[in-house]
Amino acid sequence: MKASEAINIGSKILKNRNIISHKIDAEIILSHVLKTSREKLLINEQAISYINLKRFKKIISRRSKKEPIAYIFNKKEFRSKDFYVVKNSLIPRPETELLIDPIIKKFKGKSIYFLDMGVGTGCIMLSILSELNNSRGLGIDICNKAISVAKINLETMKLNKRASLKCRSIDTIYNKKFDLIVSNPPYIVKREINQLSEDIKKFEPQKALDGGHDGLDVIRKVIYKSKNILKLNGILALEIGRGQYYSVYNILRLNGLREIKKIKDYRDNVRCIFSTLK
Ligand SMILES: C[S@@+](CC[C@H](N)C(=O)[O-])C[C@H]1O[C@@H](n2cnc3c(N)ncnc32)[C@H](O)[C@@H]1O
Repeated sequence: MKASEAINIGSKILKNRNIISHKIDAEIILSHVLKTSREKLLINEQAISYINLKRFKKIISRRSKKEPIAYIFNKKEFRSKDFYVVKNSLIPRPETELLIDPIIKKFKGKSIYFLDMGVGTGCIMLSILSELNNSRGLGIDICNKAISVAKINLETMKLNKRASLKCRSIDTIYNKKFDLIVSNPPYIVKREINQLSEDIKKFEPQKALDGGHDGLDVIRKVIYKSKNILKLNGILALEIGRGQYYSVYNILRLNGLREIKKIKDYRDNVRCIFSTLK
């Protein structure tokens, strides 16, 4: 069978399962099976061996059950680096990349100690460590399996000398002071988790999504804790959900923190807030 025929078959199967990205997904899956780039696959028509066709169909079947491509291939790109991902850690999102540039700009050339609260795969922590050579970081997460995944990424990227990882909650961090606290906390309103796409609600970890009755439970905890563990002039950098800006702004204000910067996504929603102690 030719590659284009296989793509059409795979795409049709995914389309019938209401997967919007059916065509691209089929192309990505076939290029993965053939170990080639999607571009080369589309330019050069090639025949597919029986064994590769079998592999392709198997992956199409997993995707047709809504399993995210990142979990099938165990990897996701974040700031041009591939991160190892498994079901127990949130798949890094493009909006989280918005947090990184301002942090790099602010601390360039400085020697800082930072906390990544809710480290997941380690995408935030490792991006900072690799772009700020004099930084040291502590990554925490309540999910043991997420910590194991972050550890693998840390070792693969050879950044373990400047980092430590601990399985613990933000409430249990004492006797430390950070120049930067960064977090992409769970911020989905509990009762809205059911309305998320199946890819997310069936496969991504609840602990990484569930922000409690108003979506702000963990954000409150991080802000509350930051009062005591942030250095004077230190920065708290938070990713927040759509529509949470005014609530988070107020929680910051009530806890003695002052907004210094906000970043919007391409839909004009504030998605990151940077603050400092007043
Ligand atoms: C939205 S995910 C973010 C993962 C990763 N930082 C990223 O941006 O892709 C939130 C993470 O916070 C962790 N988490 C939730 N509550 C926590 C708490 N109280 N203390 C520490 N980690 C927590 C979850 O297990 C999850 O890995």
